[in-house]
Amino acid sequence: MSSHALPVTGDPAVYIIHDNPEWIAPFTDALDRLGVAHVEWLLPETTIDLAAEPPEGLFWSRLSASAHTRTDPHVKEYGRAVLDWLAAAGRRVINGRDVYELEVSKIRQHRELAGQGFDVPRTAAAFGSRALVEAAAGFTPPFITKHNQGGKGLGVRRFDSHAELEAVADEFAPGGTNAPIDGITLIQEYVQPAQPFITRAEFIGGRFHYAVRVDVSGGSFELCPADACEVPGAGAGPNVGEVPQFARRNDVTAATPLIARLETLLSGLGIEIAGIEFIETADGRQVVYDINTNTNYNPSVESAELSAGRQPAVDRIAQYVSDTLAEAAPQSVSPAGPAAR
Ligand SMILES: Nc1ncnc2c1ncn2[C@@H]1O[C@H](COP(=O)(O)OP(=O)(O)O)[C@@H](O)[C@H]1O
Ligand SMILES: [Mg+2]
Repeated sequence: MSSHALPVTGDPAVYIIHDNPEWIAPFTDALDRLGVAHVEWLLPETTIDLAAEPPEGLFWSRLSASAHTRTDPHVKEYGRAVLDWLAAAGRRVINGRDVYELEVSKIRQHRELAGQGFDVPRTAAAFGSRALVEAAAGFTPPFITKHNQGGKGLGVRRFDSHAELEAVADEFAPGGTNAPIDGITLIQEYVQPAQPFITRAEFIGGRFHYAVRVDVSGGSFELCPADACEVPGAGAGPNVGEVPQFARRNDVTAATPLIARLETLLSGLGIEIAGIEFIETADGRQVVYDINTNTNYNPSVESAELSAGRQPAVDRIAQYVSDTLAEAAPQSVSPAGPAAR
């Protein structure tokens, strides 16, 4: 077996398919605390033997939309190949193939949200930089651009005039410094938050877990909650009186109508783990604009949860994965085994 082959264990385990070793430790630590066996399938630089069946067990995709910014441009295709292989073999995958297609396309996210009647920002998809300028002509400034295959704020820029966009449109063309990996740039209505924060609601096992407000007063569009992405000057620092960049929103609960509707949306789409972002406006709109099918939970929010006697998201996920593994591979936990069923 080549050293690049995907690792397999004899015992039923959760196989975590992902593209960033820097994000994985909080999850593997939480699985270790519960004694759940886990194996990492890290893309790229691996192979699958098409003559072989995938191992038994549970699979969990934590593939992200931004992998191409870290490794090679084709990770999306590698992810598709692995998830197709698993689907064809009938394996149980948390956030599987169809969910990944949503993760890598803001067009699809927008369509699903709009189709279920959520308030979404007016959006056009431009195929090419000239088309981008033309599409923008139909929008009143300010408007923003973003990459269709986004994540971590890729291509997200605010423009206060059409001329401003025209001056930099070439950057979005293939080979340009701001080229989207799939060639598609969205042009979108800028939604002004009533207060300078956006909200990200986290769902685990399709159920609301907690919502976090993210301070956007620093003007950054890069909102990755991991430590590595904390934005200097946006309130992340230790100075007295500063608003933390990420803080739990106690006023958003499972009983909040928007949250209940989002749970229904996730259930319909088969998304088990997600972080969904929305903006509340001064005139009462709740505009939903981003569905993330993985989250790097903010460490300070997570430790505050623990201090408050609540279950941190990583532990909730580990529990969910453990329960789902027991369902997917019952012989591993039931002494009676499958023959008794
Ligand atoms: N239509 C919008 N109006 C105002 N701000 C926006 C809008 N869309 C995105 N943003 C800001 O930019 C950030 C990144 O955009 P988002 O669509 O979430 O892309 P990504 O997938 O890269 O996170 C958001 O969290 C928000 O702060
Ligand atoms: Mg986002």
